[in-house]
Amino acid sequence: MLSYRHSYHAGNHADVIKHLTQVAILDYLLKKDKPFCYHDTHAGAGLYSLQSEHAQKTAEYQGGIAKLWHYQAQSPVLQRYLGLVKQLNPDDTLNFYPGSPKIAALMLRQSDHLQATELHPTDFPLLKSQFVKRRYTRIENIDAYAGFKAMLPPLVKRGVVLMDPPYELKTEYQDLVNGLQDAYKRWPQATYAIWYPVIERPAVEAFIAAIVASGIKNQLRIEFNLHADSSGHGMTGSGMLVINPPFTLATEMRQALTEVLSQIGSVHSTVQITPLVAE
Ligand SMILES: C[S@@+](CC[C@H](N)C(=O)[O-])C[C@H]1O[C@@H](n2cnc3c(N)ncnc32)[C@H](O)[C@@H]1O
Repeated sequence: MLSYRHSYHAGNHADVIKHLTQVAILDYLLKKDKPFCYHDTHAGAGLYSLQSEHAQKTAEYQGGIAKLWHYQAQSPVLQRYLGLVKQLNPDDTLNFYPGSPKIAALMLRQSDHLQATELHPTDFPLLKSQFVKRRYTRIENIDAYAGFKAMLPPLVKRGVVLMDPPYELKTEYQDLVNGLQDAYKRWPQATYAIWYPVIERPAVEAFIAAIVASGIKNQLRIEFNLHADSSGHGMTGSGMLVINPPFTLATEMRQALTEVLSQIGSVHSTVQITPLVAE
């Protein structure tokens, strides 16, 4: 079943948290000259029109990127992220929002490798068409976890894997834990950035506990809760569980998310950044 379309949700508060974390990790990898690999497991369509029927129907971006769009950020990560969004909207009107593979493509050097898997029959060709001219690029219309078997480890040693499933089915949580363990065996040096929604608190804690129990070391939890738990808003917040995080990530994300909270949050909003498993 592939009913999820990210075009309804692009630019919402969860995308802001996810893409800020992605930007911080990529900027860290960019500090060294050696090429690295960006691997995106659930890549989506790559670029989204915020004027589309889908985006306008939910208007979720209005509670995310639209509120930050003209903010003068102090945080370098937030500045960098907003700069990328502005690059796609040069006439100063917020028409487009970049998905995770597009953000990577904007940041990567020519020598860096970009890999992505996306299963949706409509979103895959949209994604693929944006990368036809890029070297060191592999975009496959296959299942994320089959993609690990086919594409990991990549040709270069350094890199990051972004895991961003839609979690429409309850089984997707366990699929991710199994898939993560498989990927980690193949590519233990990589950073893994796993997005998760906060909808029901007990389910979130069970999911985090399963990843902690996987035996994989060096885990950092970054969570942004826009609303109090179970306050009738559906998805009240979201988080990123990062394995092998850059040592700068916790500090950078605390600064960035504190500023995000000041722009899109309320007295009920919270930021939580916690190391879960030591190195
Ligand atoms: C949350 S969206 C991805 C958004 C994207 N990562 C971004 O940040 O712009 C999840 C995507 O996963 C795709 N998908 C769902 N199940 C999949 C699977 N088993 N393998 C690969 N892609 C899958 C969906 O079609 C959807 O486009």
